[in-house]
Amino acid sequence: MTEFDYRGGELHAEDIAIAEIAEQIGTPFYCYSTAALTNRYNAFKDALASQDITICYAVKANSNQAVIKTFADLGAGADIVSGGEMRRALAAGVPADRIIFSGVGKTRDELAYALSENIHKINVESVPELKVLGELAVERGAEIGIRVNPDVDAKTHEKISTGKADNKFGIDIGHAREVFAQARAMPGIKPVSVAVHIGSQLTDLTPLRNAYRTVAELVTALRSDGHEIDSIDLGGGLGIRYKDETPPALTDYAKVVQETTGNLGCKLFVEPGRMLVGNAGILVTQVIYDKQGQSRRFVIVDAAMNDLVRPAMYEAYHAIEPVQETAAGASLTDADIVGPICETGDTFARGRALPALKTGDFLAFRSAGAYGAVMSSTYNSRLLVPEVLVKGNEYAVVRRRPSYDELLKQDQLANWQ
Ligand SMILES: Cc1ncc(COP(=O)(O)O)c(C=O)c1O
Repeated sequence: MTEFDYRGGELHAEDIAIAEIAEQIGTPFYCYSTAALTNRYNAFKDALASQDITICYAVKANSNQAVIKTFADLGAGADIVSGGEMRRALAAGVPADRIIFSGVGKTRDELAYALSENIHKINVESVPELKVLGELAVERGAEIGIRVNPDVDAKTHEKISTGKADNKFGIDIGHAREVFAQARAMPGIKPVSVAVHIGSQLTDLTPLRNAYRTVAELVTALRSDGHEIDSIDLGGGLGIRYKDETPPALTDYAKVVQETTGNLGCKLFVEPGRMLVGNAGILVTQVIYDKQGQSRRFVIVDAAMNDLVRPAMYEAYHAIEPVQETAAGASLTDADIVGPICETGDTFARGRALPALKTGDFLAFRSAGAYGAVMSSTYNSRLLVPEVLVKGNEYAVVRRRPSYDELLKQDQLANWQ
């Protein structure tokens, strides 16, 4: 990505030196580039331009309202999975009629809220959910989508696979026609859309092609059953490069969409998350200690698994680089990069070649824009990590670092009688 590169020996986000932001606001923090977000969105939009398609940004990947607004200003809708995400999307300026609500555990309150806001579509994922929605929609009526589980192996990490029969998501494909019929029989409910999402960080288009074909066949079958299916929600899932992966070209993805669903006359929706934000963000940290252990070198940094859980949770790889470019010919030795949390799992990387580092040196974790800040916590009573958005030579703190006072005020002492 050119939006995060070295100039004059220093890592920059667009036209600002990362070290300058770090000195002003302290570390750790996430830093996103407006240009990277915009470029990625426009590249996707352009690749799909010949089709009647709406891009609904999957807010779960990065739900900072400044990020959502960046996409909303470009015309994006939002894919949400909770009442909280719906509130964020609306507050960031996404029009309700461009919001799609997926998720296996939508509560009655969340469904009622979605109906009251008149969002574009609720994608129902189970028969019990359908019944609750049916009760809520009796009088006002609702056109809904039904998410199917096509039983396709997405060939990605098992924790982010969502389209196999033994995953919790969607209505299994074998019962889909039956459930559509059940939905249509409910007063107030009209099923008009089929949705699918088979997993995240997909680097091969074959599983997507198979899933989309299955959905296209289902649409034809549903129409022969008398349903008026007018749209398909193709989900998200396109992978990005963290290390040496080769993610599919967007034009190839567009071809798969065209080949599988192009002749159905349906409006199409896509829900990309990681692909739009992953490489548009970095996590900036500083070295606390460079410690020589008995058998290994440990670079202990001030970010931890509570700030970026992906390595601990998915064994995920992030490139980690000094913010000051390493001089040519500098000697490098292998180090484990670890956080201060009291778990061995708080290890970001093992055996990375790094120059000698001293306390206060800044490091940047690449590809941290997706599923980074959104998964952060206060584990070990650490403060929630702040977020910064850069645009050209300006930056804005779009989530500030809370104070310890705020942290303490989150709980109250029990007031026993
Ligand atoms: C229903 C749905 N749509 C879209 C996405 C976004 O996926 P990705 O970030 O891989 O594009 C997800 C992620 O889990 C999802 O569950």
